[in-house]
Amino acid sequence: MTGYWESTEPGAGRRAPRADAVSDAAVLSLNGVWRFRLSPTADGTGAAFVADDFDDSAWDTMRVPSHWVLEEFTPLSGGPARSMRGTEEGPLYTNTAYPIPLDPPRVPAENPTGDYRLVFGVPAGFGPAVLRFQGVDSCAKVWLNGRELGWSTGSRLPFEFDAPVRPGRNVLAVRVHRWSAGTYLEDQDMWWLPGIFRDVELLARPTSGAIDDHFVHAGYDPATGLGTLRVDCPVDAVVEIPELGVLMPAGRTASVAVEPWSADSPRLYRGVLRSDGEAVDLAVGFRRVEIVDGVFTVNGRPVKFRGVNRHEHHPDTGRTLDRATMIQDIVMMKRANVDAVRTSHYPPHPEFLRLCDEYGLWVVVECDLETHGFIYAGWDGNPPADPAWRDAVMDRLHRTVERDKNHPSVVIWSLANESWTGETFGEMERWLRERDPSRPVVYERDPSYRNSDFYSLMYPSLDLLEQIGRHEEPTPAGISADEDARRRALPFLLIEYAHAMGNGPGSLSDYWRILSTHDRICGGFVWEWIDHGYNAVADDGTPFVMHGEDVDYEPSGRRFCLDGLVFSDRTPTPGLVELAKAYEPVSITVGSAVTIANARHSASTDDLVFRWTLEDDETPRASSALAVPPLGPGETVELPLPAGATGHAGRGDLVLTVEAALADDTVWADAGHVVAWGQTLLTSTPARAPRPAPPGRAVTVDDGEVAVGEAVFDAVSGRLRRLGALELDGPWLDLHRAPTENDHGQGAINDIASVWRKTALHRMLHRTDAVSAGDGWLRVAGRTAPRTHPHGVAWTMLWTEDDDGVALEATADFVGPWADTPYLHRDVWVPRLGLLFALPGGVERAEWFGRGPGETYVDSFEGSRIGRYARTVDDLQVPYPVPQENGNHVQTRWLQLTGPDLPCLRVVGEPHFDFTARRWTSVALQEARKPHDLVDSGRVWLNLDHAQQGVGSASVGPALPERYRIPRERTVWRVRLGAV
Ligand code: GAL
Repeated sequence: MTGYWESTEPGAGRRAPRADAVSDAAVLSLNGVWRFRLSPTADGTGAAFVADDFDDSAWDTMRVPSHWVLEEFTPLSGGPARSMRGTEEGPLYTNTAYPIPLDPPRVPAENPTGDYRLVFGVPAGFGPAVLRFQGVDSCAKVWLNGRELGWSTGSRLPFEFDAPVRPGRNVLAVRVHRWSAGTYLEDQDMWWLPGIFRDVELLARPTSGAIDDHFVHAGYDPATGLGTLRVDCPVDAVVEIPELGVLMPAGRTASVAVEPWSADSPRLYRGVLRSDGEAVDLAVGFRRVEIVDGVFTVNGRPVKFRGVNRHEHHPDTGRTLDRATMIQDIVMMKRANVDAVRTSHYPPHPEFLRLCDEYGLWVVVECDLETHGFIYAGWDGNPPADPAWRDAVMDRLHRTVERDKNHPSVVIWSLANESWTGETFGEMERWLRERDPSRPVVYERDPSYRNSDFYSLMYPSLDLLEQIGRHEEPTPAGISADEDARRRALPFLLIEYAHAMGNGPGSLSDYWRILSTHDRICGGFVWEWIDHGYNAVADDGTPFVMHGEDVDYEPSGRRFCLDGLVFSDRTPTPGLVELAKAYEPVSITVGSAVTIANARHSASTDDLVFRWTLEDDETPRASSALAVPPLGPGETVELPLPAGATGHAGRGDLVLTVEAALADDTVWADAGHVVAWGQTLLTSTPARAPRPAPPGRAVTVDDGEVAVGEAVFDAVSGRLRRLGALELDGPWLDLHRAPTENDHGQGAINDIASVWRKTALHRMLHRTDAVSAGDGWLRVAGRTAPRTHPHGVAWTMLWTEDDDGVALEATADFVGPWADTPYLHRDVWVPRLGLLFALPGGVERAEWFGRGPGETYVDSFEGSRIGRYARTVDDLQVPYPVPQENGNHVQTRWLQLTGPDLPCLRVVGEPHFDFTARRWTSVALQEARKPHDLVDSGRVWLNLDHAQQGVGSASVGPALPERYRIPRERTVWRVRLGAV
């Protein structure tokens, strides 16, 4: 049996798409508690449920809007109402693969279908009405009072029907299919979440003067400062913008002096469009979007998107978001210096765009179209290339553009994501040029870029991006010379970069340095804003964050849904701290002078106050306001170092920080919020010369132990056993870390974690070959090597007595074939070169001077200032929902670890070291599947490392740049340890 849900038509009976509008006509929200029954096939509960008097009292209740797979109701298998999370009936996560056979437009007979019913009252005199669904996934058929209104696909797009309601009792019946032909156009990398997941509303329509649509054309001429305004509308209406003195008929053009709209100065002029039947709110932002000589500009100035890709996600309600959550996203973005959003990969709830107009974010709105899974058929039958799908594809574009055309924040239309090529893209482009010539178009996946105003890529390496910036990139395969010539003249838009999966991404500042340097590049969008994990509870009641692997279903996108800058509950990750630094709109460079550059698009710096602080590792020494003249966009000033900050003698590192903060409260942050900062070291600690090991004699204490000053060692293993009154063990040479998501690479590409596992880096065997000692020194030599393989590291550790305790000089020599290993034919890059110690479990607190307070790695520390910080050992752990390496601190000058009744362990770098401290080993961290698998081992495991490799973003991206790896060469480093 087949039916409308398997038709390549987009729907039937619907009204023409139109602008989203806030009108004074009556609106009846139909959100609330509906009746619901799930059935296994598209037949649903049968034909009877549409009847007025159908008895639904035995049915489940269902919140609308919601995704039924995230709610509690009677499962298909029967039994009491419960949540389907974690089961095949619940949310399913795939990345590129369709969860149904690739057999377009047919779908399986097993097609979970939800029948919904709502009885609602309509006040007398409500008038003619329109029924609007803002989003139903994936196909809905609708009946009102027993009469069929029509059906629709296009999950993230609104559809409307004329609704012949009657005063008093009305009955709405909606049948929603999980799978439909529309499914083939919605293969975005995200959870499959059926249901009526956005608002349902009954809109009263005036009998005369109904403003069914309107189109605001608000241009701006940067040369004259004049805005032009014309509002088109199908009925006689008047445009009123009191602030501008505009009062004119719709269709007429006014020319007025205005302040233009931009993301950093989101100037809106509010007014109304009034007919004799209704008044529609206007929020007009004047701007001109234009590509000039291959440079993307707004209002005549180049734009650099400091962007993120945003999916709609909530850990309890999926893609059903309330307004407060939308505001939370925007406020967090603005505070992190993000000024642009790509609505990956579908139009968001319309309220989000209203908020973007108001708060100020550049927006790339993407059509709800992705056919990625056709890759499994070699792109055979790809819908954009098949005329049978033309109407469905065009329908999606029409509904996107018509709904969102009036938002000043929307500056680019994106035709689709990852849908390869096809003639329909040409038609989409042609229609758009006609309908909305005011905005350019992007489509990334067609290598000819013939329908795109931008050249675009995802996840290029730093080197390739640099080449692109210089117009020196290689020609994509399979395109003609003409196409290539056209492509080379286009601006470049980095639609996705820096895959924020797990710990990372690294190199955010490296990317930004390139993005900001080249005129051709108009910025980029980090993948992605938020993890898509769900709150779930294990059988024993332990809460956890559910991802694709927690559902027993194939295909699965596994953990790739957890790749956000904020966790699923919107807690910022360390990646967001790093991004805020990379995206600073004002750059502050402190060196022999203070250089301040305003990199904003159009706002001056007169909303900012500047301040400097001088600190050493104990206290702030001095602090004061810094007078900075207001800088217009693009302006730079160089100021001498503040007088009060110079001439201080340094006991150790003396750090000068200059920061810019908001002078006054804004809608997105309070006065005092720091927008940008820069730091420099005025003096730094000189490295101490290592003490040469004096010839001497071994001192046997007793029981096979040897002492060097207050340090007592095992005479056979050479490991440290006591430091003063502190019992400890170690060090072991440590070359391992619990792989991060990025260490696993993408499939077989860049999977360095499997190389580590195959060479058993996590299970190294340690051998001590020689322990020699004399007066005040001890030398231990040995070898640390994996099982099976011939390579290893030969090391020596030379301990000498020191004023503060003992100094350790470690030497590591990589021996054997680490490069192009005989068995793997791969290079083994070690993720860490350092020293592991076991400390008493009573250690509770770490205090250090270095980068902080959050975790830092060699390719992601620029957002963390040098300063003095204190954290508990527990708070040093970053709770990634998939356990992995975390909590490192680079450039640590000194570290103190304390606990009740324990001597304080003090470690001093010569000059710096990396540290991590945790209650479990990195092997336990590697083996854990969930945070709650990690249990206190009874000890604190402290790594004092010479280096740890960077985090990168190879989970979907280039290999970790070589400069962030650890060279396999003879390495010598020093630390000093003492117990106080
Ligand atoms: C891109 C895609 C995104 C996401 C990302 C990896 O190719 O557009 O939707 O899948 O890769 O997480």
